[in-house]
Amino acid sequence: MDGALIEETQAQTEAPAAAQKGLLRFLTCGSVDDGKSTLIGRLLYDSKLILDDHLAALERDSARHGTTGEELDLALLVDGLEAERQQGITIDVAYRFFTTDKRAFIVADTPGHEQYTRNMATGASNADLAVILIDARKGVLTQTRRHSYICSLLGVRHLVLAVNKIDLADYDQAVFDQIVADYRAFAETLGFASITPVPMSARHGDNVTTRSAHTPWYAGPTLLEHLESIDVESDAAARPFRFPVQWVNRPNLDFRGFSGTIASGTVRPGDRIVVAASGRQSAVTRIVTYDGDLAEARAGQAVTLTLADEVDIARGDLLAPPTDRPEVADQFAAHLIWMGDEPLLPGRPYLMRIGTRYVPVRVTTLKHKVDVDTLDHLAARTLSLNEIGLCNLSTASPVAFDSYADNRETGAFILIDRYTNATVGAGMIAFGLRRAANIHRQAMLVSRADHERMAGHKPATLWFTGLSGSGKSTIANLVERKLHERGVRTFLLDGDNVRHGLNRDLGFSDADRVENVRRVGEVARLFVEAGVVVLCSFISPFRAERRMVRELFAEGEFFEVFVDTTLEDCIARDPKGLYGKALDGKIANFTGVSSPYEPPEHAELILATPALSPDQAADAVIDELERRGRI
Ligand code: ADX
Repeated sequence: MDGALIEETQAQTEAPAAAQKGLLRFLTCGSVDDGKSTLIGRLLYDSKLILDDHLAALERDSARHGTTGEELDLALLVDGLEAERQQGITIDVAYRFFTTDKRAFIVADTPGHEQYTRNMATGASNADLAVILIDARKGVLTQTRRHSYICSLLGVRHLVLAVNKIDLADYDQAVFDQIVADYRAFAETLGFASITPVPMSARHGDNVTTRSAHTPWYAGPTLLEHLESIDVESDAAARPFRFPVQWVNRPNLDFRGFSGTIASGTVRPGDRIVVAASGRQSAVTRIVTYDGDLAEARAGQAVTLTLADEVDIARGDLLAPPTDRPEVADQFAAHLIWMGDEPLLPGRPYLMRIGTRYVPVRVTTLKHKVDVDTLDHLAARTLSLNEIGLCNLSTASPVAFDSYADNRETGAFILIDRYTNATVGAGMIAFGLRRAANIHRQAMLVSRADHERMAGHKPATLWFTGLSGSGKSTIANLVERKLHERGVRTFLLDGDNVRHGLNRDLGFSDADRVENVRRVGEVARLFVEAGVVVLCSFISPFRAERRMVRELFAEGEFFEVFVDTTLEDCIARDPKGLYGKALDGKIANFTGVSSPYEPPEHAELILATPALSPDQAADAVIDELERRGRI
């Protein structure tokens, strides 16, 4: 996968044969009404790629279902294929391959409806050019602006402004000129390298592959001429060498190579390289492929590199020239296109895939979301499906990257939900944040071992989770008293109390609960560093954040204690009268009533009340601590 945000399938397998001729990847943007399907059909038809039996079927279908009378309905050619894709594929992009004498093409076709930002973004993520369709009778529309913005965000550098249905505007030059002027005024800020307007009629073929006699005032190229001749290769070749290591190939002790696909630039034996994250350097000795060694390899080629030195390199590392290195950071700003059905939760850990690397990541700040119709920046606390925002992210360990503007291959990433494995976001890195770069860890004179020795026991985090009113705080309190009586050093962090101080600024939205738990997790970690057994009593309704806290601790230090009381029992007890209010609709987002609770799947301890009395439950916790050798 060459940096595309999402995998492609059939187009990829057909691409290599065309490589010699030069390949242009483009996408078409516009709704079906704009004539998008007809245009793609026209290109395929006129480039004679359609097989004869396909054509016979098309003639039959045109007569039966077509909307074009005697003529072939080219839209059927495309829409017919569409039906095959209606099978629950979440990212709905069709790639079509066609070729002329001059060039080979892969065209990405995405549904035009406005809710399909993610599909369009997928199609645009590795396109060299976009054909933006405009209906000559309608001019520049909101969707034209939206498509253009997404193309610019995804790094598409060249545009064709296809002013379609010009026949229905009487082939009027004034109509065309006005649309072009309107569009240029809007697109000025988007920074495209070229915008080529073409007046056309996809249905009648005017200026698509053949020059139209109806537009004598138009001196520019036909669409196909432009697609065949536009120079997009130069930028790719000029970019620096980037090689994400896919795997370390070590068939025997005599051979150690690093396999992967070159993301950008070229490489030759003798070139010096650096491992971006570690800074270790070496030189390339061989470029090995199935067809023998190469004297040079370039972007898109899958190769195995051998190096002159025994350098420590693992899957996920990025190799680059020492003179032109990528950035390495654990915090950066990026545009994010949200593709998940569930909204983004800032603070929640997702899995980031960047190049061949997987690393846990959190959105630390959502700076704004973008109204894709007006390009306005709006304040936001979350992103929903198809929304786009600018945010700061923080990875669990440093990653190597370039800004997306510099390199689409090494500046793009996707976010993956750690539970469902679904792709929930696509990101384009804007810049690294150096904020953390000048903050180093201080070595402490009193170590954690010193703290433990003085305490005479091991520290631990006891994390009580359960519904409001389940008895978490009651049990945690008893546990603390029993531990205290035994001389164990303890501290109790309780949701209600912490929310009066440290977390006074947080409410009960999903995002705020995520942040609540994140902060408490960090505080608990400090207590454990200090050698204390810390008890945390928080509803903490989401699995993802409980897991995030768990991962802050070493094996055996963290105890998830599920206080398992049914909602019915909690409502019946209602110690603070909150369920009553929540059920009357007077408290919003109340856990169990109007906000979810995800029970633990792998708790160290489950305390089922009321079967267990609070005292028995507390003893069970203490027994567990003893059994695991903490006290
Ligand atoms: S958590 O979900 O973010 O972990 P936390 O444990 O800190 O919640 O706080 C829960 C306490 O806040 C409850 O025991 C209850 O007293 C109070 N509370 C007030 N509003 C809500 C609400 N909407 N949902 C749950 N608890 C609430």
